[in-house]
Amino acid sequence: MRTKVVLARIRAGVLEQGTVELLNEVGVAARLHREGLIHGGIELAFAGARHRIDLKQSTGKVVTIYGQTEVTRDLMDARDAAGLQTVYAADHVSPGDYDTDHPRVSFVKDGTTHKIECDFIAGCDGFHGISRQSVPAAALETFERIYPFGWLGVLSETPPISPELIYTNHPRGFALCSMRSMHRSRYYVQCSLEDQVDQWPDQKFWDELKRRLDQEAVAHLVTGPSIEKGIAPLRSFVAEPMRFGRMFLAGDAAHIVPPTGAKGLNLAASDVYYLSRGLREYYDEKSSAGIDAYSAKALARVWKAVRFSWWMTSMLHRFPDTEGFGARIQLAELSYLVSSQAASTSLSENYVGLPY
Ligand code: DHB
Repeated sequence: MRTKVVLARIRAGVLEQGTVELLNEVGVAARLHREGLIHGGIELAFAGARHRIDLKQSTGKVVTIYGQTEVTRDLMDARDAAGLQTVYAADHVSPGDYDTDHPRVSFVKDGTTHKIECDFIAGCDGFHGISRQSVPAAALETFERIYPFGWLGVLSETPPISPELIYTNHPRGFALCSMRSMHRSRYYVQCSLEDQVDQWPDQKFWDELKRRLDQEAVAHLVTGPSIEKGIAPLRSFVAEPMRFGRMFLAGDAAHIVPPTGAKGLNLAASDVYYLSRGLREYYDEKSSAGIDAYSAKALARVWKAVRFSWWMTSMLHRFPDTEGFGARIQLAELSYLVSSQAASTSLSENYVGLPY
């Protein structure tokens, strides 16, 4: 039941090289290597023209286009194949006693209460999950920015408009042309937070997307019925620290980034990298140095991705106050970016993923 819900969610699809290496290392990257698309560049579009940022030339690295939902599926399959138990659709999940040496997680499944006694709890249960919520408010410091717009996203069974992703700054608002495969496209347009999906029939979506793209791109756009359509708000959020005794937060349970730049899943992967190393050190070497350093190490990388996602969002969207002066500043920044090797290398380094 939960399996279906999890797999039905449509999420971003750009994997950093470090994320791919991590999936490789744990043996769940076979399908990713068969089906993922390797991208060595992205395009930035503004003032009616497109400019390529060569990620590979400036960093030696690439990104892989492979849906987050597919990563989830591969991980679920790997757990099944290894005979590991996963409990889906548990109710009343409650982490507890993690400030002692004997943490536990209790939950209700099919009317029966279960209790798991454990050494550690990994709170990887998303922004709305119980792990962070179970921490006393005084023990947490939170940082938040809400953006005054949303993204309307459409998935369609059509070939992508272009071989690489196009990020567009347009007076009518941001647009992004992405893909899941060579026959499945993912498009987004910035929309109002008041908009409802049913106010956006397919034709209206395609018309709006076309208005924000250059003529040459429009000529290559293949439209078709949407197979998924949704509106997502944009938010930056960080909770500090990421460790509470024997419970560790990882991924969206601890931080949210706006989607611009596709960092959400990649940040969850780097958290898991640090945490898994720390836990291995604890068991193999009887050292708690790794788990003691987890929160600070993870947060240092998290904040850099929070900054990058905020910056991409700020540069590419229409804000209520980016009329006039603000809009000119955005264009100046974009023009600088595509004309300076230093500036485009800086974008590229962040886009392909900062080192772990
Ligand atoms: C996608 C989403 C993003 O936020 C992004 O920056 C790039 C691609 C996507 O869904 O394909």
